[in-house]
Amino acid sequence: MKLAFITDMHLGAEGEKPTGVDVRQHFLKALDFVADMKPSGLVLGGDICNGTGDRAMYEWVKKQVDQLPMPCYVIPGNHDDATLLAEVFRNTHYLHGRELYYALPLEGRPVLFLDSSKGELSTDQWTWLREYVKALRDSNILIIMHHPPLPADVMFMDRKYPFEQSDAFLDLVRELPCHVTVVCGHYHVDKVVQRGNLLVLLSPSTYYQMQQNTPEFAIDHYRIGIREINLTTHGTTSTVHYLQPGQ
Ligand SMILES: [Fe+2]
Repeated sequence: MKLAFITDMHLGAEGEKPTGVDVRQHFLKALDFVADMKPSGLVLGGDICNGTGDRAMYEWVKKQVDQLPMPCYVIPGNHDDATLLAEVFRNTHYLHGRELYYALPLEGRPVLFLDSSKGELSTDQWTWLREYVKALRDSNILIIMHHPPLPADVMFMDRKYPFEQSDAFLDLVRELPCHVTVVCGHYHVDKVVQRGNLLVLLSPSTYYQMQQNTPEFAIDHYRIGIREINLTTHGTTSTVHYLQPGQ
């Protein structure tokens, strides 16, 4: 199974160019690339909006992804509104209170889509997650979430905007006999972190990529990042593709 993962689009109103970047054009270029990639599914990894969740923005995004032939799955980031996102993408049956989380078998492979948009999971979401991983412990599990579930040596993000429940997440995974692969965004870097049976694939943004070794916010570059993930019977492979912005 091939998945495309696009994340941290930080879209604004038409014509709005945060730090001079035409974020809508970046996103559309990424979608063109995905169309050629022909994955069996596209995942939008959160921070679709730049400020706060906006219904009109989600509707514009849905209109774009609906032109692609493959199904599109969404999770919220810290700049999103899970309820609005679920309403526009017709996922309200996956809403639990104000959180949007769900499990789907994709080509027979269990995939868990979490809602880390608050920087943590609610008690109810932890209970749900624990029950799922207990039931799935004999398969390798793929988890999609906005935040990296553990620090990733990206100084600014680890200090300022980390996932707040790393220890609980690591404890949960460590007890499992299977491998857990997490695909995430939020940090605006392309990075792999492996710890025990946990593999975390941090994915670049379609907006900008972050410098990793500075305690202050600093941009590394503005190339448009897309992660490709291939889950096969002989293992998992993943590649990051970068596109040049502009024409
Ligand atoms: Fe984020």
